[in-house]
Amino acid sequence: MPVISAPHAFNESQLYVDLRSIFGRALYLKCEGFNFAGSIKLKAAVEMVENAERDGLLTPDSIMVESSSGNLGVALSVIAASKGYRFLCVTDSRCNLSTRLLIEALGSEVHIISDLDANGGFLGARIEYVRGLCASDQRYVWLSQYTNPGNWQAHYRRTAPEIARQFPRLDVLFVGAGTTGTLMGCARYFREWHRPVRIVAVDSVGSVIFGGKPGRRMIPGLGMSMRPPLLDESYVDEVLQVEEADTIRACHRLARSGFLFGGSTGTIVSGAMDWMARNEDRDITAVAIAPDLGERYLDTIYQTNWLQDLYGDQVLGPDEVAGPRGSEPAPRTTGPNS
Ligand SMILES: Cc1ncc(COP(=O)(O)O)c(C=O)c1O
Repeated sequence: MPVISAPHAFNESQLYVDLRSIFGRALYLKCEGFNFAGSIKLKAAVEMVENAERDGLLTPDSIMVESSSGNLGVALSVIAASKGYRFLCVTDSRCNLSTRLLIEALGSEVHIISDLDANGGFLGARIEYVRGLCASDQRYVWLSQYTNPGNWQAHYRRTAPEIARQFPRLDVLFVGAGTTGTLMGCARYFREWHRPVRIVAVDSVGSVIFGGKPGRRMIPGLGMSMRPPLLDESYVDEVLQVEEADTIRACHRLARSGFLFGGSTGTIVSGAMDWMARNEDRDITAVAIAPDLGERYLDTIYQTNWLQDLYGDQVLGPDEVAGPRGSEPAPRTTGPNS
C-alpha cells in the first residue's frame, strides 16, 4: 500500500495497455498519466527541481518560471505547491483551458502568449518572455526544459529501466518527441542495453523537430516549432510524422474502448500501428509510451464542434465514433463551446 506525504512521491510505473484487442496488433502502451500531475512530465520536473536545489540555484525566495505547453507547467505547479516555491508558467493560446485552471488551482500563475513568432509557432515568443522576466528580477529561476539535461536524465534513470525490467526482449520502442527529453533519455539507455532496440521517434506533421516544413498544429505536447537543443539524431533509428487527423482518429478509437488518452498518445499509437502494419511479418515485441490521459482534452479532441471546425465533418469514421459500433458521427450541435 503506497502511503505518501509529497504528491510527487507516487508515480505508477508498471501499467501497460495491450492494444491488440483494439487495433489488432500487439503494441504495449506504457501509461504515464497516473500520478498527481497527470503526465510523464512529473519525472522531468522532479529531476530538474531536485538538481537545481542540489546546485543551490533554487532558494526559498526563488520564483520558478518555465515555458510549457501545459503538462510541465502542471507538474511544476504540483512540486512548487508541495515544496513552497512560487511558480509562473508561460504558455500560449493552444494550452487547454483545463490545464490552465489546474495550474491556477495549485496556486501557480499562468501567463498566456498569443502572438505567433517568426516560425509560425509560439515557442520563440514564450522563451523571449521568460528571458525578459529573468533579466528583470534575480529571483526568477528558469529551469529551461529545452536545454536542461535533467529532462532527458529523468527518463534515462526511470522510464527506460522501467520498460527494460518488464520487457527483457524488447525490439522496438515508439516515443513521441517534444523537447525530446523522453526520446533522448530512453534512446541513450537502450543504446547501452544488452540487445539492440529500434528507437522510433513519433512527431506530428507541421513540427520542425527533424526538419521539414512548419505547419499548423493544434494539439499541444508533441512537436516543436524549433529544433530541440536536447536532440541528438544519431540515437534515433527512424522518424514517423503523423497528421493531426490521424491522431484524432486514434484517440477516438481508443476512447471507444474506454481508454481516454491525450492527443500525443493518439499520434504515437497512430504512427506505431502504421509501422507495425509495414512490419507485420516479423515477430516483434513493441512498446509505446503514452504521456498523459484524455480529460485535459475534453474541450478539444473530444469535442465534436472543435473537431469539425478544424478537421472537417468527415474526420471520424465508423470505427472511431462513440456509441453503438458503426453508428453515424454525432450531429453538429450549437452551445457554449461552439
Ligand atoms: C502530452 C505530451 N506528450 C508528449 C510530450 C513530449 O515529451 P518530451 O518533451 O519529453 O519530448 C509532452 C511534453 O510536454 C507532453 O506534454
